[in-house]
Amino acid sequence: MASSDIPSSVLIIGSGAFGLSTAWALCKNPQFENTSITVVDRNTFPSSDGSSVDSSRIIRPDYAAAPYARLATIAQNRWRTDFAPEHYHEVGLAVTASGPEQKYVGDSLANVQNIGVDRVEVLNSAEEIGRACGLEQNHDEACGRTGYVNWSSGWADAAGALVWLRKEVEKYNRVNFVVASVKKLLFDFEKDTVSGATLADGSELCADLTVLAAGAWSTSLIDLRGICKSTGQVLCYTPISAEEEAAMAKLPTILNLSNALFRIPPSKGMLKIARHGHGYINPTTIPHPESQNPNETITVSLPYTHVTDPNLVVPLEGRKACREFLQSIHPSLATPSRPFTMTRICWYTDTRDGDFLITHHPKWKGLFVATGGSGHGFKFLPVIGDAILECVQGRTPEEFKERWRWPEQRVSEEQWVGDGSRGGPVGMVLSEEFAKGDTKL
Ligand SMILES: Cc1cc2nc3c(=O)[nH]c(=O)nc-3n(C[C@H](O)[C@H](O)[C@H](O)COP(=O)(O)OP(=O)(O)OC[C@H]3O[C@@H](n4cnc5c(N)ncnc54)[C@H](O)[C@@H]3O)c2cc1C
Ligand SMILES: *[C@@H]1O[C@H](CO)[C@@H](O)[C@H](O)[C@H]1NC(C)=O
Ligand SMILES: *[C@@H]1O[C@H](CO)[C@@H](O)[C@H](O)[C@H]1NC(C)=O
Ligand SMILES: *[C@@H]1O[C@H](CO)[C@@H](O)[C@H](O)[C@H]1NC(C)=O
Ligand SMILES: *[C@@H]1O[C@H](CO)[C@@H](O)[C@H](O)[C@H]1NC(C)=O
Repeated sequence: MASSDIPSSVLIIGSGAFGLSTAWALCKNPQFENTSITVVDRNTFPSSDGSSVDSSRIIRPDYAAAPYARLATIAQNRWRTDFAPEHYHEVGLAVTASGPEQKYVGDSLANVQNIGVDRVEVLNSAEEIGRACGLEQNHDEACGRTGYVNWSSGWADAAGALVWLRKEVEKYNRVNFVVASVKKLLFDFEKDTVSGATLADGSELCADLTVLAAGAWSTSLIDLRGICKSTGQVLCYTPISAEEEAAMAKLPTILNLSNALFRIPPSKGMLKIARHGHGYINPTTIPHPESQNPNETITVSLPYTHVTDPNLVVPLEGRKACREFLQSIHPSLATPSRPFTMTRICWYTDTRDGDFLITHHPKWKGLFVATGGSGHGFKFLPVIGDAILECVQGRTPEEFKERWRWPEQRVSEEQWVGDGSRGGPVGMVLSEEFAKGDTKL
């Protein structure tokens, strides 16, 4: 679409970080003052199993890739000042490692230092890590050997910030929010055009421009094989007293790159342990979303959540990993009398190298894709919508042109290099992990 070519209607599928931020950007931009805007989400807001809805998300600018480091710095300055500041807590982030992952720590640190070293503390031993992070134990096993803490990083209450943003959007009185599940995009196979979406009840939402921002579910609405893959990540929560919460409130988030586990300071009576891992896949055979032939199928990994199955509990291996991590850093909180009372599988939309996918669809006119958060998209909530709109208008920022475009080739998942930040087990299939039993907390 040429920049002068303003759509008279936009349909955004998904009301998570990517979709809602795009709706906000449309409302703010005078060029779109006559554009009607619809946001459709399958769940009532905020979508309880959406990747953008949780007690916390890390806000950090220390990326190994300079363009993301710069964009994250802009976003973080908004978090600090005028973007949901009451939901942002600047308590620092410690990144540690004890094995080959030390290289990623070094690369990130180098970048961070390029931006300007202010409140970074290099941690050279298990003892220093233990002290900076307020760990109960600081022996080598528990703490990793190297790392740094950036006291200028923070975390945000993700659900709180999303609700805040929704209120901002509502102030414009421009967006029609629809709660309904999109079943299929409205394809015109003659004109290679998408003109909206068909809902589960058979009704249609038509638009000049459709923005697909359905997160990890995007793979069910277009063929993203070899481009995006949904991976399930482990979250475990344990209740914590008000005193314990207060005592931990100022401790930094700790991310151990060697096992990909992290601890975020507690909030609202819960301490969260999670894994930034390779994740579970959930291969599912579905009708080919872009085919006219109802018999044609594809097999893709799709989210499986507590909305799919209200009794869902994280597989035992995941709970064990979180438990062992908690045991190693805060043994007093990992006693049998204090089990995890809530677990969740949260789905990343991974790309082969961790870059987002923010681009017009190469085949379908009228379809724009905004996904591929790859486990690091949330922090950009204050700025990603504006960036998405620039891409819609053919003004993709130079440094992201290569990174966000539709890849020339689909690359089979076994050959993906990843973003270098993941750890933990590789190649786990969700149903196989469930089959190992012990599916109760
Ligand atoms: C466990 C976990 C930890 C993370 N930690 C961090 C972090 O610390 N820092 C950070 O920056 N990022 C983090 N991320 C990544 C970040 O949360 C995501 O990149 C971001 O939230 C993705 O937003 P989204 O809008 O693409 O997806 P979502 O928020 O999932 O939004 C997609 C929406 O589409 C809706 N939808 C799906 N299918 C349909 C359909 N057929 N019809 C209608 N609606 C539909 C869903 O209900 C959902 O609301 C983490 C992610 C997870 C899962
Ligand atoms: C929107 O419509 C009004 C009334 O027709 C018109 O004056 C205005 O120029 C339009 N705005 C844009 C950005 O096209
Ligand atoms: C730490 O984070 C701050 C703010 O997020 C960033 O500006 C700074 O460059 C980072 N720096 C260092 C030295 O880490
Ligand atoms: C980090 O992970 C490594 C590898 O599993 C482990 O040896 C170390 O104890 C962990 N450190 C922390 C702080 O959990
Ligand atoms: C789909 O399969 C059914 C049953 O096998 C068959 O009758 C039908 O012709 C097929 N449709 C197409 C479009 O191939």
